[in-house]
Amino acid sequence: MDNKALEPDSVSLPMEEPIVCNGGQPQQHLKKVENQITEAQRFSHLPKRSAVDLEFVDLSYTIQEGPCWRRRGFKALLKCLSGRFCSRELIGIMGPSGSGKSTLMNILAGYRQTGMKGQVLINGKPRDLRTFRKMSCYIMQEDKLLPHLTAREAMMVSANLKLDETLDVKKELVNEILTALGLLDCAHTRTSSLSGGQCKRLAIALELVNNPPVMFFDEPTSGLDSVSCYQVVSLLRSLAMGGRTIICTIHQPSAKLFEMFDKLYILSQGQCIYKGSVSYLIIGNDASKVFNNTGFLFFSMLFIMFGALMPTVLTFPLEMSVFLREHLNYWYSLKAYYLAKTMADIPFQVICPIMYCSIVYWMTEQPPEVSRYLLFIALSTCTALVAQSLGLLVGAASTSLQVLQLLTF
Ligand SMILES: Nc1ncnc2c1ncn2[C@@H]1O[C@H](COP(=O)(O)OP(=O)(O)O)[C@@H](O)[C@H]1O
Ligand SMILES: [Mg+2]
Repeated sequence: MDNKALEPDSVSLPMEEPIVCNGGQPQQHLKKVENQITEAQRFSHLPKRSAVDLEFVDLSYTIQEGPCWRRRGFKALLKCLSGRFCSRELIGIMGPSGSGKSTLMNILAGYRQTGMKGQVLINGKPRDLRTFRKMSCYIMQEDKLLPHLTAREAMMVSANLKLDETLDVKKELVNEILTALGLLDCAHTRTSSLSGGQCKRLAIALELVNNPPVMFFDEPTSGLDSVSCYQVVSLLRSLAMGGRTIICTIHQPSAKLFEMFDKLYILSQGQCIYKGSVSYLIIGNDASKVFNNTGFLFFSMLFIMFGALMPTVLTFPLEMSVFLREHLNYWYSLKAYYLAKTMADIPFQVICPIMYCSIVYWMTEQPPEVSRYLLFIALSTCTALVAQSLGLLVGAASTSLQVLQLLTF
């Protein structure tokens, strides 16, 4: 199980036994989880729920197009998707608009069933939809809140409908959740007057009342400013660290938000193009250095180009008169001269870039992948060879050194 998400300032959630996430035996019984976000925000009144791992195998979803009296054939919205979402993970489903994120979420949450093929497993066992709907919640993109209730009243309605406790316990629990989600200041504000971020947090708070172990969020950050986005994603992360399985679709996250996710599931036209940890998607060791990395690649190419260009430009005019005499006296053809000159230069044009690339590639902590390394070397060598030919062209265009220097700079 992945414990890297735990930070010293948050409290790990002791489970009675750790759940084996990858390839272990299917879970025969559920484990108790303590419910808390951080130590300061400990929930003592939330009902205890079990951790849930969600797995889907060969999931496809097809719909019939056109109205029911005039069908126009089938359309596959999801194609053979498989994956495993474990508890304690904040999972982001990403992809361009129309790629099937909401469709996948609807199917996993059990909102859509007809036309679906494949299996959804809960803790290794086939999903029973009724039980699953009781232990999961789905927070839609637009929060549908009753406009005339205050935040606290809305919370009390939710608690009354979902919980079977005494009024005092419910009030205490509502207070705890409002405090933890930073909504205490606006507890007496009507939901129609709340800001976008507060609405989103209230929608989460309403569902948190019965402490569902699986939570789905459709684009929770869309339409929010960057600070509210950060607050909402931090909240989702805390919920995940509390032992829950948090699955959310997200659109264009900033680098800071992106790094807060544990796992990504990227869709394109209904197919999965990436699933796994976020860190492998980040260039080099640190995403914040991406601009420096681009700069490095640019200046490397510039360096290799001028390194190959300048010696040719500077030496060719000196050889030019000798070459002209020999060529005009039929010593050799132009092709033979060009070939010989290129061959003579090849060791320098190939070996020097390879040496340079081998040193800088590892010094700058690029991804340690052979294919990328070879591609970088191939690009550098090609640049050097093209630059050398360019040097000959410029050198041939004029015999005067001053004009040459003007042309190259
Ligand atoms: N009932 C439907 N009939 C026809 N096409 C649909 C239906 N529902 C969704 N789609 C299509 O499925 C694709 C995926 O939709 P959706 O999951 O909402 O995308 P996303 O949430 O990634 O933007 C879109 O191209 C959409 O047009
Ligand atoms: Mg959508």
